[in-house]
Amino acid sequence: MEPQLLTHAYQGGMYALPPLPYPADALEPYLDEATLLLHHDKHHAAYVMGANDAAETLLRVAQGDLPPSVVPTATLNLAFNVSGHILHTLYWENLAPPPQHTPYGELSVALDATFSTYDGFIRVFRSAAMSIQGSGWAVLGLEPVSRRMVVCAVNKHQDALIPGFKPLLVCDVWEHAYYLRYQNRRAAYLDAFFALINWEVVASRFRSYCHGYA
Ligand SMILES: [Fe+2]
Repeated sequence: MEPQLLTHAYQGGMYALPPLPYPADALEPYLDEATLLLHHDKHHAAYVMGANDAAETLLRVAQGDLPPSVVPTATLNLAFNVSGHILHTLYWENLAPPPQHTPYGELSVALDATFSTYDGFIRVFRSAAMSIQGSGWAVLGLEPVSRRMVVCAVNKHQDALIPGFKPLLVCDVWEHAYYLRYQNRRAAYLDAFFALINWEVVASRFRSYCHGYA
């Protein structure tokens, strides 16, 4: 399956909520239907709404309808909500029902260049995900200067990201992603996440918009 590459995340000049790429119960028993529905239909939808509200506010400032004093808050809101929208869209796409295979081909070569082995990648990614204090994301991506893979431990949706960084695989570790099924057991949620990674989508991202890296 080729990734949608965010094409459904912005339509008609507005940020838009893409549908889940599978039925809401497709990831059972690893991720439950109630969590997916709440996560997608309420939490992700709220980021889409917040992104549109912030963009509208900045447009109204530009048109003279609102004072410049609202710009600092609006830009922070835009960064938070657009980042949340992008990351959630990538998150739904990089999950799929098991069984999954491990990375192979050029994706595996690029992973090994940074992490030595697949197990090394899992060790780093899991540690980044466990290290988040409060709400955030673990993100595997390509760093544009070294052109190698790196893992970012992202606070909220947008803090501690590298400029020009290309996300390949994202893991939501906000509690809303797992609390209904796993309560405070983030490690158990991560076990489920690793079982659900759609490496075909990750490989497609690597090929499609990261050509020439690694
Ligand atoms: Fe989330």
